[in-house]
Amino acid sequence: MGAKARVAVLISGTGSNMAALLYASRRADCPYEIVLVASNNPDAGGLALARAEGVATFALPHKGMKRPEHDAAMDEALREAGADYVALAGYMRILTPEFVGKWEGRMVNIHPSLLPRYKGLDTHARAIQAGDAHGGCSVHLVTAELDDGPILGQTPVAILPGDTPDTLAARVLFAEHQLYARALEELVSRPYRADWLLERVNAIALSLPEAERRESHGSPAWNTGGKGGKFFAYFNDRHHGEPHVAVLVKTSGPDELAAMVARDPDIWFRPAYYGAAGWAGLILNRPGTDWDHVAEWVERSWRAAAPRRLAGLRAAADEF
Ligand code: GRF
Repeated sequence: MGAKARVAVLISGTGSNMAALLYASRRADCPYEIVLVASNNPDAGGLALARAEGVATFALPHKGMKRPEHDAAMDEALREAGADYVALAGYMRILTPEFVGKWEGRMVNIHPSLLPRYKGLDTHARAIQAGDAHGGCSVHLVTAELDDGPILGQTPVAILPGDTPDTLAARVLFAEHQLYARALEELVSRPYRADWLLERVNAIALSLPEAERRESHGSPAWNTGGKGGKFFAYFNDRHHGEPHVAVLVKTSGPDELAAMVARDPDIWFRPAYYGAAGWAGLILNRPGTDWDHVAEWVERSWRAAAPRRLAGLRAAADEF
């Protein structure tokens, strides 16, 4: 894998989860590093710790600022720090949809309950009150809806007889510290993992008309036009000693392919054997893969392979 993912952590209070993320990141093989700890509360305990550990900090009280203004200032600080991901760790602010949208798929939160149970506050009291056998914690991607995005990991924590919200919270915190670092590592590693990349390519390919997944020479590949149809994409997982995980798509021929590789060698390569027929390798296991770009190329490749009746239909549909 490439350089470490750059993570900014937003806190409002103690920052024990931030500390857990920070110390996990000090393992040599951790796939992320903490580049900024930011807070809406200049007195947040975690800021002093971050400073002492040599991590950049940023504090901006929200009092007297409109929510969009405060979010925009936070966003700017995150970008200045070169953050790729944002981890919310006890950040007690409702975020504007604009802010959430900018970090979609790259912002995570930890919540002290087994979501979807007990969104919002007082989670431990509510779990005890309901007579649940377990409380727990969840790490999820942040979406515009509060405590609602796709769940990346959960740890149940047994509720003991006589537990109070405080005693339960203290035990759940142990679980949070373990879970958060692991879930974040998993998230930042995904874009380099062949199985995850294959699923994304598969979803793009199968969204096209009459697309089917077939094996070709032992690799996943996608074909259109049924029997006698043609392949329009091949998945390439480090074939022939190449370091790339890639999808092969059809260009107009070796000249276009050569020009693409010369222009963007970080994105394109000439695959063994297939390159001679004008297939280009679109590299996926790199930072910041643009999935709209991947989808455009898979579709272009599909157009070149699809029987006339299908490609024609698609072109007509696009005109509306
Ligand atoms: C944690 O319980 C977390 O789940 C919740 O806020 C609390 C933050 O604690 N979102 P800390 O500041 O990380 O110690």
